[in-house]
Amino acid sequence: MSLVTMKNLLQRAEENNCAVGAFSVGNMEMVMGAVKAAEELRTPIVLQIAEKRLQNSPLTLMGPMMVNAAKHAGVDIAVHLDHGLTKRCVAEALSYGFTSVMLDRSLLPFEENVKQTKEIVQMASATQATVEAELGVVGGNEGDTEEHKITCTDPAMARDFCERTGIDALAVAIGNAHGNYPVSPELRFDVLEEIYHTVDIPLVLHGGTGISDEQFRRAISLGIRKINIATASFDRLAQAAQHYCDGCNKPDYFTLSSEMVKGVYENVIKHILVFNNR
Ligand code: 13P
Repeated sequence: MSLVTMKNLLQRAEENNCAVGAFSVGNMEMVMGAVKAAEELRTPIVLQIAEKRLQNSPLTLMGPMMVNAAKHAGVDIAVHLDHGLTKRCVAEALSYGFTSVMLDRSLLPFEENVKQTKEIVQMASATQATVEAELGVVGGNEGDTEEHKITCTDPAMARDFCERTGIDALAVAIGNAHGNYPVSPELRFDVLEEIYHTVDIPLVLHGGTGISDEQFRRAISLGIRKINIATASFDRLAQAAQHYCDGCNKPDYFTLSSEMVKGVYENVIKHILVFNNR
């Protein structure tokens, strides 16, 4: 078991008609909780971090830790840069041995998104790393103050985008959003179905927090092969820490750390069970 490319895990998800869980991490406890869950369920996962999160969790520290955690895990793990914002950050992630990267240019005009994504595909080819890109706009924000308005992915443009860029996985916008949904989301499965029949590479669902198990299963039946979970893990860690500190007079770091690992572990277990589609 080892560090593998995300493409490898996406192919296996395709063969098994399931989705690989991509779990965002921001510290050691989150890495440990996610890996423990994956090992216990003998299920490969993706460990990922978004560039916006590096303000709290620098890549110089997180990158080597994530890659080493994958190398020493009892299951196959891919390590991915989520929502890269700069080519410099993508290059840095690749230099640490990340096996997958994303440059998010979804807010730019189509042609500019194509041009910049192609450059990343070229850059990643040096280490055979997987490349994910996004077309259309996923709502909410990923560590940003600005809320993005949802624009669903256009299926015909999606095919053109995939063919011209040579990416390995496409993140779609179908009414999904980052962060906690104010009301439960209405996903556009009609749009997803059209993309699924138009595009022949694995599809990625961002904004997994707050999507129901039934919606996950339906999305998987329509070609979603990677599902991103961030907010639910961050929230569970914070709640576990609060619960522990509220419940004792003299909290100690070591128990606190174990409780944080446990909170993340439980959240990852819950999601893997649904994504395995068994
Ligand atoms: P959530 O924070 O909604 O789980 O979204 C995660 C995500 O899509 C990261 O890219």
